[in-house]
Amino acid sequence: MQQAGSHASQSASSYFDEARSADVVNARMGADVDPRLKQVMEVLVKHLHAAVKEIEPTHEEWFAAIRFLTETGQMCNEWRQEYILLSDILGVSMLVDAINHRRPNGATPNTILGPFYVENAPQYENGANICLDGKGEPLIVAGRVTDINGQPVPNAKLEVWQTNDDGFYDVQQKGIQPDSNLRGVFTSDATGAYSFRSVKPRHYPIPSDGPVGKLLGAMGRHPNRAAHLHFIVTAPGYEPVITHIFTPDCPYLPEDAVFGVKSDLIADFKQIDDAEAAEKAGLAAPFWSVTWDFTLAPVTKSA
Ligand code: BEZ
Ligand code: FE
Repeated sequence: MQQAGSHASQSASSYFDEARSADVVNARMGADVDPRLKQVMEVLVKHLHAAVKEIEPTHEEWFAAIRFLTETGQMCNEWRQEYILLSDILGVSMLVDAINHRRPNGATPNTILGPFYVENAPQYENGANICLDGKGEPLIVAGRVTDINGQPVPNAKLEVWQTNDDGFYDVQQKGIQPDSNLRGVFTSDATGAYSFRSVKPRHYPIPSDGPVGKLLGAMGRHPNRAAHLHFIVTAPGYEPVITHIFTPDCPYLPEDAVFGVKSDLIADFKQIDDAEAAEKAGLAAPFWSVTWDFTLAPVTKSA
């Protein structure tokens, strides 16, 4: 029979105790818990308790934190995902992406997807113009899709999207911008080449009218993203690349609100002020031109 004293001391160790708080909580884990969930929850509890011990919040501060999380959840719907925005501005989206996309040297790196990707955008022939609202400085984008040995990847699918010259995606301005403005799907040819016409991207703010925008302001940060074009490049047998190319002259490159800039993704946008070249391109001078090659890594066995 169990001694009354030993039962009491066993229970006492499971009672809450400030010094052992995380251990007390984690010791409550059931016996048949999914091992990954067990690992995740133990680590989260350990670090959350350590953070609370370091911060020593007042009750008012803790309720303010709960209110912030509540308002963040209330701002999530089919069109707006404030929790992803929170993960973005804290650099967590980029960290999760980096952990999951360690690529061989020379392969095009990933960056953040963002909330404005739309499946089934219009398919275009190479050379087509995706700018349907006629605003902005004309841009020609061209390059090749190759593998890490420099061999062409024909029939790669290149999905592209960007904001218009006012800094909004088409889906943010339904009825104001033409549908599918500045987005399209292209296919690389037998030599891996692709090309299209667009406009030079500008920097723009991430949605900042919610709790995450307020938090950014309170932390003395601005909401601006460095000017970019988004791409998803896919081809059978290769790791999909979700990425951007950035203009080199954007003042927000070193302080992109979501930490999406990687030096390997800063492209050489050239302004071409040459009447002959403009006539050949069917544009007025000056116009912008960027050559950008995508280098795909083969699918890894575990992927
Ligand atoms: C974007 O680039 O479209 C984006 C990325 C993260 C948050 C908001 C927007
Ligand atoms: Fe974007």
